[in-house]
Amino acid sequence: MCGIVGYIGFRDAYPVLIKGLHRLEYRGYDSAGCALVSRTSELNVYKAKGKVSDLERATQGKDITGSLGIAHTRWATHGAPSEVNAHPHISKSGNITLVHNGIIENYATLRVQLEKRGFVFKSQTDTEVLVQLIEFQKELRHCDLAEAVRRSLHLVIGAYAIAVIDKENPTQLVAARKASPLAIGIGEDYKEFFLASDASPIAEYTNQIVYLNDDEVAVVERGKNLHVMNLYGEDKEAEVKEVDVDLSMLDKGGFPHFMLKEIFDQPNVLRDCMRGRIINNVYSSESGQAHEPTLDVVLSAVKDHRRELLRARRIVIVSCGTSWHAGLIGKQLIEHFCQIPTEVAYASEFRYADPVVEQDDVVIAISQSGETADTLAAIQLAKEKGAFVYGIVNAVGSSIARNTDTGTYIHVGPEIGVASTKAFTGQVTVLTLFALALGMYKGTVDQQEYQDVLEELTNIPNKIQEVLKQNDKIQELSKKYTNSSNFLYLGRGFNYPVALEGALKLKEISYIHAEGYPAAEMKHGPIALIDKDMPVVFLTNHHRRYQKVISNLQEVISRHGQILAIIHEGDDQVKQMVETYIEVPQTLSCLAPLISVIPLQLLSYHIAVARGLNVDQPRNLAKSVTVE
Ligand code: F6R
Repeated sequence: MCGIVGYIGFRDAYPVLIKGLHRLEYRGYDSAGCALVSRTSELNVYKAKGKVSDLERATQGKDITGSLGIAHTRWATHGAPSEVNAHPHISKSGNITLVHNGIIENYATLRVQLEKRGFVFKSQTDTEVLVQLIEFQKELRHCDLAEAVRRSLHLVIGAYAIAVIDKENPTQLVAARKASPLAIGIGEDYKEFFLASDASPIAEYTNQIVYLNDDEVAVVERGKNLHVMNLYGEDKEAEVKEVDVDLSMLDKGGFPHFMLKEIFDQPNVLRDCMRGRIINNVYSSESGQAHEPTLDVVLSAVKDHRRELLRARRIVIVSCGTSWHAGLIGKQLIEHFCQIPTEVAYASEFRYADPVVEQDDVVIAISQSGETADTLAAIQLAKEKGAFVYGIVNAVGSSIARNTDTGTYIHVGPEIGVASTKAFTGQVTVLTLFALALGMYKGTVDQQEYQDVLEELTNIPNKIQEVLKQNDKIQELSKKYTNSSNFLYLGRGFNYPVALEGALKLKEISYIHAEGYPAAEMKHGPIALIDKDMPVVFLTNHHRRYQKVISNLQEVISRHGQILAIIHEGDDQVKQMVETYIEVPQTLSCLAPLISVIPLQLLSYHIAVARGLNVDQPRNLAKSVTVE
């Protein structure tokens, strides 16, 4: 996790760095710092425990001049959040300073070796070892900074994206990456360069971006070209990509929090996600004659790779957190429409489980950030075992997008709130399209059902809009739960993963313990938890075995659980059974998650706000989990 930013060029670095840190604060926010080489060639390093705004306060009245600088916002791994553990870390001589995102796994061994050579450490971090090691290599080999960095990285085990500057050579900035993301923006005529953990801090200055690959070192010289090499000093080609980020997506657009904005973004971004992928066919491909319009899915990755996909005797979905919940829905969609056995694995378990993966297996990796370390490692393992890997990713150009064999972007725009909302519905939408497209090629989808699902999918954004109109009602209702300390979320079939997702949303932003459960499993143990003080969110909407769900509901009512039911419009049966309910529009059972998750997102949001918590930056969390 952690976010890093760097700048070298002709303008003042400080405002670029601070703005960049604000954009990256979703990656970590327990402390922040920056280092600037001033107009008078001094190296000024400022740090603060807390948020980027605390760093801004700490720099008031200080020398913040200079057009070369690096900065960092931290999510602590080694060493508690504190000023001394905040980055940038400085070498013994005070000349070299470095920011780092990742983990140096062999830092303890390296630290002992360096201590023996007289290096003294101030912090408890793994990162400080790296800056001292670079200085040691520079002295030992009488080399420049880039070579010292390169040599040091040969000795390091772990993950890193680093930016390093040397006061003795203020025309140069050196960066490197392995398993943690790093983007380099190239300004007009190579007069300035921007470095960051993702494109968001760079986007307003340039859309010309180079994503460093693993084991690459970049040397950026003021006014000169960008030089990329591997760890052996061999030149590598820097592939410049045009990356356009919608800047309006990077602010709150009048909403009090990113999370609420992103919940409300869903109708529009799902339209974007489907745009060009569901088409109206009016001509028969065989006769060329016009006929009754029919809908069709166009997913170029499925079309181009249908041979590999159709060969699959099994599909394994790997992902984490909310993306894993989307994967559970994907499994049901793929098994239903494609008749291919599908498993869903936590990427963190899969990578170390010695999984049986065969050549004809297809692995689908789902990730919003495209940088989750466990998912990346699972992809690597699957590829080594010969599987074909398909990515479903939001962040364009991210590591997962680049490391999969093919894939589909969900195109829901940057998600900044730490709690994932629009990415979940985007992932479920793409999984639906994927299953329909593959099922069509495989001949396992019923034509009528294909048409019905596609038609209903195009109605989903409007239906979500209908649910969003109930925001005030949900806010009012949430007051009842402000002081609750436990919650149960129950659902069956397509709504079971939604129950898990609802519980996760509540846990992560309101710190209330919550569990999602398949409703019918209750009677095998958890029903013992039910009493009048236990809030139970019950998803009764749109189930193919509706009466079975109603029986499970009855079981909770009989034990006096405090029920909040999510029901579909016109469900008078449940209305007569429970006092508290939220009505959502009717839809097909397989699309229910796209609708039923919305009230749960709003509920957790309002409960957290009512508890006075920082919804966008909940404690202990970070948006992009780039450490394992
Ligand atoms: C929950 C949440 C996390 C992520 C998980 C995977 O709201 O955001 O559980 O879903 O860390 O992240 P990605 O999808 O970026 O791989």
